[in-house]
Amino acid sequence: MTPAIRTQRLSKVYGDRTVVADLDLNVPTGCVYGFLGPNGSGKTTTMKMILSLVRPSRGAIELMGRPLDRSTRRSLLRRVGSLIEAPPGYGHLTGGENMRVVQRLLGLSDRQVTRAVETVRLRDHLGRKVGTYSLGMKQRLGIAMALAREPALLLLDEPTNGLDPAGIEEIRDLLSALAAAGTTVMVSSHLLGEIDRTATVLGILGGGRLLFEGPREDLLARSAPEVLFETSDPRHAASLVAPHHRVRIDGATVRVRGVDHRATARIVAALVRHGVDVHGVSRERRSLEDVFRDLTGGRGL
Ligand SMILES: Nc1ncnc2c1ncn2[C@@H]1O[C@H](COP(=O)(O)OP(=O)(O)O)[C@@H](O)[C@H]1O
Ligand SMILES: [Mg+2]
Repeated sequence: MTPAIRTQRLSKVYGDRTVVADLDLNVPTGCVYGFLGPNGSGKTTTMKMILSLVRPSRGAIELMGRPLDRSTRRSLLRRVGSLIEAPPGYGHLTGGENMRVVQRLLGLSDRQVTRAVETVRLRDHLGRKVGTYSLGMKQRLGIAMALAREPALLLLDEPTNGLDPAGIEEIRDLLSALAAAGTTVMVSSHLLGEIDRTATVLGILGGGRLLFEGPREDLLARSAPEVLFETSDPRHAASLVAPHHRVRIDGATVRVRGVDHRATARIVAALVRHGVDVHGVSRERRSLEDVFRDLTGGRGL
């Protein structure tokens, strides 16, 4: 199937700083694509390039199978809705008035506007000034504005930023419902936990580079288990294991990364041989957060 977004060697250079470097993105049609990375890793810049709000320094972009260039830009971007950075909308106007501004600007029908407002569940609040909205309501209004044109592709930049857990949950549910209805959703976050359960495909940026892209399960598969050794002398135990494995002391426990069954047996034997009592051995699968932290060089979360 044609990807909703494909980029080839997409790059952005500001002065002598490369902030987005040779991105080859593939956003499959109809998925929620979680675009993750620490602050400053280039998420917003990339999304702005996809939306033609920032000019790429290098590389190519295809949307819905067609190259994005001067001749196709208008017709392609008509099918793309977006919410980048702060939620849009005039605070001194009501939610309904803001929606009418968008309606007139894009020549949308009443039905399209009503549907968008109902999707984000703002119908009962349309008479209120947007300045009195909570952050979550403002985000939802922003999403309604992006949705009203019934886009094939929706780009949302950190829509859960600053929301409370209930607000985050609401956005998550909304994204899943949109994808189930056929809209491709690309959603960014610097917090893995805010979208990882909703996103079926993940793209992870670090320092402007794509560190991982693929199904969420593939990332999980990378989370090799750690073996935990409870010993009488964790420091001594760690010093014996450290030359051969990645080791971390955690209280009375020594955590060893990436050891199979045979290596586990060898470690136990070595510890005992050196007079370290082994009180317990267990395996623990690493969380997605750990993998994310590894990939992004500890700057994640
Ligand atoms: N207009 C600009 N001029 C110079 N540097 C910029 C500009 N916009 C963004 N940057 C830099 O590019 C890097 C990536 O920024 P951004 O795309 O906003 O990252 P993210 O959205 O992942 O936090 C940051 O270091 C930022 O300071
Ligand atoms: Mg950003």
